[in-house]
Amino acid sequence: MKVQSTTTQQDDHFLISNYDYKSTNIEKNGDKYIAKPQITNFKFKTDTRIPKLGVMLVGWGGNNGTTLTGGILANKFNITWNSRRGTHQPNFYGSLTQSSVIKIGTCNTEEVFVPFKDVLPMVNPCDIVFGGWDINSMNLADAMNRAQVVEYDLQQKLRPYLEKLVPLPSIYYPDFIAANQGDRADNVIPGNNKLEHLNIIRKNIADFKQQNNLDKVILLWTANTERFCVEDPNVHGTAEKLLKSIESSHPEISASTIFACAACLEGCSFINGSPQNTIVPGVIELAEKAGVFVAGDDFKTGQTKFKTCLVEYLVGAGIKPKAIISYNHLGNNDGKNLSQESCFKSKERSKKTCVDDILESNKVLYPTEEELNIDHTIVIKYCPETGDSKKAMDEYIAEIFLGGRQTFAVYNVCEDSLLAAPLIMDLLLLCELFERIKFSKDSCEYQRFDTVLSWLSYLMKAPKSESGITTINALSRQRAMLENLVKVCAGLTVDDNLRLEVRYG
Ligand code: NAI
Repeated sequence: MKVQSTTTQQDDHFLISNYDYKSTNIEKNGDKYIAKPQITNFKFKTDTRIPKLGVMLVGWGGNNGTTLTGGILANKFNITWNSRRGTHQPNFYGSLTQSSVIKIGTCNTEEVFVPFKDVLPMVNPCDIVFGGWDINSMNLADAMNRAQVVEYDLQQKLRPYLEKLVPLPSIYYPDFIAANQGDRADNVIPGNNKLEHLNIIRKNIADFKQQNNLDKVILLWTANTERFCVEDPNVHGTAEKLLKSIESSHPEISASTIFACAACLEGCSFINGSPQNTIVPGVIELAEKAGVFVAGDDFKTGQTKFKTCLVEYLVGAGIKPKAIISYNHLGNNDGKNLSQESCFKSKERSKKTCVDDILESNKVLYPTEEELNIDHTIVIKYCPETGDSKKAMDEYIAEIFLGGRQTFAVYNVCEDSLLAAPLIMDLLLLCELFERIKFSKDSCEYQRFDTVLSWLSYLMKAPKSESGITTINALSRQRAMLENLVKVCAGLTVDDNLRLEVRYG
C-alpha cells in the first residue's frame, strides 16, 4: 500500500503524516453544555526501518511462554501436523496484527481492507529472537508437553527446536506467589540480596542482546500472578526510593518489579501480563528517564474481552446491566497458583474493574453512584482435570423496557494459552512499533508517546494509563483507537462510518 497525498511525506527512513485532529471542547454552563468544536494539528513521524527484535519472557517455561514460542516456530518453519480432524497448517488466528484487517478506503463503491500488519512497517513475528527466565529448569520441549496445550503431533515436530531452549535461572520470592508453586522452583538465582538479583537480570539482558546481535529487546512478564505488593510512597514512590529499597532488599519489592527495573535500566520496554501492581510509580520514573515504555496489566483474552464487548453493547443499546456473575474453572498451573487467596485477589481486582467506565458513561441508566455499584461477582476454581481448557460461565442480568429482565448465560471453553499467545505477540509487535513513532503537536518538537503505553489497552484487562488519563475498557473503542492511530500515522483517513462517498459518490 502506498499513500499519495500532500499531507504525507516519505523518504528512506521516515514516514511523516500531517493530521488535523478534530475534537470538541465542552464547557458547562449551569445545567447546559456549550460544545466548541476545535482542530489541532499533529504530525506523526514513523521510523520505517525494521529492527532486529529480541524478546525475553519471564515465565518462559509456562503455558503461555511455550505456546507462544512453539507457535511462532511452527509458522516460521511452516510445520504442519495431524490430529483426528486432519492435517493442520500453522496460522496466527487470534492476532490483531496478523489476522485482522483494516478498512483503508473505497474502490468505486467497494470497501477495501488490508491486514493490520501491512498499514505500517512492522516486525515479522517469525523474525523475533526469544529468550527468558523461569524458576523451573525444564527445557521448552518438555515444558510444552507439561502444558498440555498444543496437539501431540505438533509437540513432537517442534521438539528438535524447543529442546535446545532452556530458561535462565530466575528470581524467586516465595511470599509473592502461591505456596503450591514451591515444587517448581528448581532454577533460581541464589541468595536474598535484591540488588544482586537486579544486577544479574540486567547482565542477562545485556548478554542476550549482544550474543544475538539485536537492535532492541522487550521484556514481558508472563510468569505467575503475584499478590499485590503493599505499595508505599517511601518504598516505591520514586525511581530513587525504589532503587534504595532494592539495595536494602525491602520485603515489599516483588520479583516482577525487579524485572521491570532491570528492563528500564537496560533501555528495554516492559510489559506486565499479570494483574499485580508491578508497575509502581518508581518504575514509571525509571522508564521515563530511560525513554522506554511500560504497559499493563493482565492480558485481556477471552472472558473479559467478551464482557467488555457485551456490556458495551447493552449500555450502548440503552439496556441496563444489573448483575454480572462470572464463574471460571481451570486446571492449569495458573489456576493452581490462583487457588491461593492472595493471588486470586489480584485477578479478582482486574476482572472486576473492566466495565466501570462503560457504566459510568451513561447517566441515563446510572444517574447515581449507588446504581453504578452493580452486583459483579468473580469466582475462580482450580480443577486439575480441566487442564488449560478453561471453562468460563457468565450470567449477565439486565433491566429492559418497563421493568423487564434480559438474561444472557454465556459458556466459553477453550485453551487459555491459545488465546493468550497471539495476544502476547501483538503486545510485543505494537510496543516495538510505537517505539518508532514520534509526534509533534502544533509544530512543536517531536516527542514520543507517554511512558505508560495506554494505546495497548485493547490487549489488557486492567489497562494502565498515565495519571490523569481516563481508562477506556469498551472493546470497540479500544480497537478503533489502535486502528485509527496506525491509519493516521500512515496518512490514511480515519473512518467515521458515515460512508458518504458510497451514498452520494
Ligand atoms: P503458567 O503457570 O503455566 O506459567 C507461569 C510460569 O512462570 C511457570 O512456568 C512458572 O514456573 C514461572 N514463574 C513463576 N514465578 C517466576 C519468576 N519469579 N520468574 C520466572 N518464572 C517464574 O501460567 P500461564 O498460563 O502461562 O499464564 C501466565 C500468566 O499470564 C499468569 O499470571 C496468568 O494469570 C496471566 N494471564 C494468562 C492468560 C491466559 O489466557 N493464558 C490471560 C490473562 C493473564
